[in-house]
Amino acid sequence: MAAPRAALVEAVDALPQAVNPLALSLNECPFPPLPAVRSALRVCDEAANRYPEFLPQRLRSLIADHDGIAEEQVIVGAGATGVIMQVLHAVTSPGDTIVLAAPTFDGYPIFAQLARLRTVTVPLDGHGCHDLEAMADAGRAARVVVLCRPHNPTGTVEPAAAIERFLARVGADTIVLLDEAYVEFLDARHRIDGPSLVERCGNVVVVRTFSKAYGLAGLRIGYGFCARDLGLRLWQMQLPFGIGLSAQVAVAASYAAESQLRQRIRMIAAERRYLQMRLRGLGVCSTDGQANFVFLPGGAMRWPDVFDGTGLQLRHYADGGVRITVGSRQSTRAVLGAVTAARAAAGSTAPSG
Ligand SMILES: Cc1ncc(COP(=O)(O)O)c(C=O)c1O
Repeated sequence: MAAPRAALVEAVDALPQAVNPLALSLNECPFPPLPAVRSALRVCDEAANRYPEFLPQRLRSLIADHDGIAEEQVIVGAGATGVIMQVLHAVTSPGDTIVLAAPTFDGYPIFAQLARLRTVTVPLDGHGCHDLEAMADAGRAARVVVLCRPHNPTGTVEPAAAIERFLARVGADTIVLLDEAYVEFLDARHRIDGPSLVERCGNVVVVRTFSKAYGLAGLRIGYGFCARDLGLRLWQMQLPFGIGLSAQVAVAASYAAESQLRQRIRMIAAERRYLQMRLRGLGVCSTDGQANFVFLPGGAMRWPDVFDGTGLQLRHYADGGVRITVGSRQSTRAVLGAVTAARAAAGSTAPSG
């Protein structure tokens, strides 16, 4: 029978390319998984006839040990996406309010809709940072407030002291989702001590993922941690057999290869600084991004026009802004080439954006 065979060929063809210097729209890691992680994953395939753990207790324990938190504080999901939905389903009822920055990670408006929440948006300030006072004010009448740190799409990071002031202002009855999807890219001086924060603030859930710095987006592994009481409540929402067999092996192999991962993270951060510096040299402003992407605000420049026809896959915003995932040096050259060509065509070197 030809059709199933053709469907298999089609399915394999539809797999995304691990290395594609033009795929810069989803903030993925530009490298294939580390060899040690890949060989560990191959072993999983051989046991695919078996179910994973009923509830992902061993994975939870592995993550808890790694991050220095108690198991009861940790929940695990299908990516940060799964964790966020788990939190929303556990702590909200349809019609409750969620406060989001605008713009924010594209997933949040969808998650709010899935949980049938009313969304209140608070615009970012002129530097692409959260307006923490306005968010705290809006948060007092809301069930959930979301802060992404670094923020997506701008990559900006508010000082830890400003986050503390925000938390004091927002009130203990509002759940604060502190989304740290890109935390591994932050310099030590920008990091918040998450475990200590959730000890002090029973309403904070820190969300993390293996999709970004760990380079495992296709495996869908994320986790959250919070105070024990809330953690135990969230664990009640853990989907039976909901985390695939490969997750624990991939996470354990990644932790075992942490020094190589840290080297990759340093390479990506260095490439981001290089891209930001070269763009500045071309008179192009970007926000003070600290993650694995660079955001060029809209305004005088219509960025979609600049990149049109280049083959680069980027995330465009309604105001003409663009978010560019940091890739290889080849990716950086493609981005800089497009900007230089647009500058030459416009016959201008005046600062913009
Ligand atoms: C801020 C933020 N949170 C969460 C996610 C979702 O990540 P995951 O792949 O773990 O579901 C993303 C993905 O781009 C993100 O940018």
